[in-house]
Amino acid sequence: MNVLILGSGGREHSLAWKIAQSPKLSKLYIAPGNAGTKEVGENINISPNDFKAVKQSVLNLNIHLVVVGPEDPLVQGIRNFFLDDSELKNIPIIGPDKHGAELEGSKEFAKEFMAKYNIPTAAYGSFTLETYSKACAFLESMKAPYVLKADGLAAGKGVLIIEDLNEAKDALKIMLEGQFGEASTKVVIEEFLDGIEVSYFVLTDGENYKLLPEAKDYKRIGENNTGLNTGGMGAISPVPFANQEFTQKVIDRIIEPTIKGLQKEEINYQGFIFFGLIKVAGEPMVIEYNVRLGDPETEAIIPRIESDLLELLAAVPHKKLNDFECKISDQTATTVMLVSGGYPESYEKGKIIRGFSEVKNSLLFHAGTKENNHSIETNGGRVIAITSMGTTKKEALQKTYESAAKIIFDKVYYRKDIGFDI
Ligand code: AMP
Ligand code: GLY
Repeated sequence: MNVLILGSGGREHSLAWKIAQSPKLSKLYIAPGNAGTKEVGENINISPNDFKAVKQSVLNLNIHLVVVGPEDPLVQGIRNFFLDDSELKNIPIIGPDKHGAELEGSKEFAKEFMAKYNIPTAAYGSFTLETYSKACAFLESMKAPYVLKADGLAAGKGVLIIEDLNEAKDALKIMLEGQFGEASTKVVIEEFLDGIEVSYFVLTDGENYKLLPEAKDYKRIGENNTGLNTGGMGAISPVPFANQEFTQKVIDRIIEPTIKGLQKEEINYQGFIFFGLIKVAGEPMVIEYNVRLGDPETEAIIPRIESDLLELLAAVPHKKLNDFECKISDQTATTVMLVSGGYPESYEKGKIIRGFSEVKNSLLFHAGTKENNHSIETNGGRVIAITSMGTTKKEALQKTYESAAKIIFDKVYYRKDIGFDI
């Protein structure tokens, strides 16, 4: 099979690394990819949001399967674009259609879906500028802290958690007046849930699903979970508190009702579902859905999948996932993200990265890198994800941090406390 992966981050590099190991693969392409994906496939310099360019590549390169990494093209309807095109409609694509992608693209849609199918989540209300006074009354009826969420995609910045009631009312007004453009003309106000977060992932063909490894990610820039939110500074899988009993609750109360709910809504969901969960008093609740894999969680979970991922992906369009097994290693994977100094605020790109050949006991998944004049340079805030496996978390972390010290670029920064809290 010829496979095209859309995206350019560490998630896409780890997917590419895994798919490249499949005996079913003929040729692998990544669009646009990065300096790391180039080592396992061929990069094509097009944007995943440019559907016409994607079409040209799919036809020119005789692609048999497209795997969509990020949410943007899904929310914009890349699957519908394929289905509506006579030349593309028979080419399978891993990722939901526009309707299914609303699970991530609209917080209000996700909340209504969960309410309808009795999936445990925080109490909420949904408001616009016209209903601002009702929103204020709703805030007054709730306890601090107040959780405000832009309805639409806001590049991970659309959630505000505010202690003071009056500040929350002011912030809500600013959001509704267009702080995040179209994305925040509607805002979901949620009950604050106090607990530990964990992410579960499935691959579904619309009828059956395979449970992938769970992971915990570390979102804040600073150690001890302080400072600004980032795209993710590290991840660990498995998550000790997500034991068999907890996982069974997640399956019974969240995963299976979600898959059945999608069927009842007549959404032919074929792709990954990311369940962002929180454990509150021992019970799982949904914080958010994403319609893709997480980053950097993917860099930690993919190396734990022992089965042929391409075989599973190829079974999705035929709804034959249940014919295959998804075998998971019981080793621990730890991922630490090396970032550019200054990230998630302003930072410089184009710093030469050295030390790749020094790393022996870890996997290096490139996030923001590019090749320039035969050297590899930084090309983003998150630069390289370092993943190591171990029989224990301690062993995996030790390898990861040994490797992290060997990769050198100007103003490199990484958190030194990934995985220590669990
Ligand atoms: P989201 O974009 O919905 O994942 O929200 C971003 C982050 O905000 C989550 O990972 C949580 O840490 C936090 N968060 C979101 N909703 C809630 C909530 N209802 N209670 C507590 N924390 C929340
Ligand atoms: N690591 C969180 C996300 O991918 O949304």
